[in-house]
Amino acid sequence: MFDYDAEMRFYQPQFRAACGIRPGDRVLDVGCGSGQSTRDAGRDAAPGVVLGVDLSERMLADARRRTADANVSYLHADASTYAFESYDVGISRFGVMFFAEPAAAFANLRRACRRIVLMVWQPRAENEWARAIPEALGGAFRDESPFSLGDREQTRALLMAAGFDEPTFTAVREPIYYGADVEAAYDNVRQLREPGKLLAERGQAALRKVLAEHDTGDGVLFDSAVWIVEAE
Ligand SMILES: C[S@@+](CC[C@H](N)C(=O)[O-])C[C@H]1O[C@@H](n2cnc3c(N)ncnc32)[C@H](O)[C@@H]1O
Repeated sequence: MFDYDAEMRFYQPQFRAACGIRPGDRVLDVGCGSGQSTRDAGRDAAPGVVLGVDLSERMLADARRRTADANVSYLHADASTYAFESYDVGISRFGVMFFAEPAAAFANLRRACRRIVLMVWQPRAENEWARAIPEALGGAFRDESPFSLGDREQTRALLMAAGFDEPTFTAVREPIYYGADVEAAYDNVRQLREPGKLLAERGQAALRKVLAEHDTGDGVLFDSAVWIVEAE
């Protein structure tokens, strides 16, 4: 399974700090995946409770396996429509860009959460990883959903239409980490859906070349950029 926690190693401390979770808070983690942000929230919120929600049973099984904290639980549900209880804070690390109907989904989250803190990708043009790897594989990626909240004005309008107050956007630029060396990074990238498909069709040498160009000796790193979006 692709190691998102390793990929996010330079972002997670900043995201956790931005979440500003306090002891006793009730927290909802949307699209929690294997739950690193859920567990961090659990430690910050204790004795408050944290619920991680995800569409993927496979990710949730991994999250449950890694979680020992009694105040953290998981739910298999579609966050865009599920009738949640009330939470002080809704957080999401790259889990809210994939909604089929974003307006309805954020209205649903607005009903559940007093405050939200989201980490989302800035547009593809700002993200070297999202240009360099498809270029190396000689194919354009068709899936633009990871960047669906990258346009600040559109995201601002979307959140305000859902009933949130004026959101704030903090630009953060950090490297993302694909692995300790070229072979580890190659194995990781191969597990991503779109690169995996292109790799099957095209040269593997080209991918190894671009990974080698980004091997810093301290990991294979690509430039990237996110927004941390906060709204009450
Ligand atoms: C890029 S992953 C991020 C996972 C995790 N937050 C992390 O940072 O490691 C996006 C996650 O959002 C989940 N997801 C997408 N749409 C969802 C929805 N409507 N309801 C719940 N989860 C959703 C996916 O199943 C996936 O696990």
